[in-house]
Amino acid sequence: MRTRLRRVTLSLLLSATACGGASAPEVTSPGPAAAPDASFSVWDGVYAAAQAGRGVAQYAEACSSCHAEDLRGNSNAPSLVGVSFLFVWEGRSLEELFTTIRTRMPTNAPNSLPVSSYLDIVAYILERNGYPAGSSEMEADPAVLSRIAIIAREGGA
Ligand code: HEC
Repeated sequence: MRTRLRRVTLSLLLSATACGGASAPEVTSPGPAAAPDASFSVWDGVYAAAQAGRGVAQYAEACSSCHAEDLRGNSNAPSLVGVSFLFVWEGRSLEELFTTIRTRMPTNAPNSLPVSSYLDIVAYILERNGYPAGSSEMEADPAVLSRIAIIAREGGA
């Protein structure tokens, strides 16, 4: 029940910010990116299935040469799924993951893709890590992304 409520609240938050400015809900004490206030988590349906679907081709084109087609990495680049992904990202915010990828990847051409492609790729990474899709597309809004925690299990660590 609690989870259901949080999902509804998140889509409200997402649609409100999509309209921009005036009607955006007040963000209460946004924490620093490294310690999100954990209002939401990656279990709350924070991306759309279609977005992850678009991410497949984008990932293949921009990332798979180093991180491998199955996202598991190799001796040159770290895995983007499973235990090794969580070892690095557990407890951090989606904003931090998104910004890290956008500003550092691909290593040979950081910030070279459209923002929408980075969002699609992050959605695909979330999908491949087993996190559920929701009804709204993920947007590049730091105020929203910084409140979404990456956690291993629904409801906490
Ligand atoms: C040319 C090779 C190369 C390409 C292409 C590349 N990466 Fe990377 N990536 C690396 C290397 C090497 C590291 C480890 C060093 C670092 O963090 O800078 C890394 C680190 C990362 C990390 C941090 C992982 C961690 O656990 O610390 C993420 C997330 C990531 N890459 C995602 C991506 C995504 C998404 C793309 C496609 C947009 C991409 N990378 C494209 C080589 C690459």
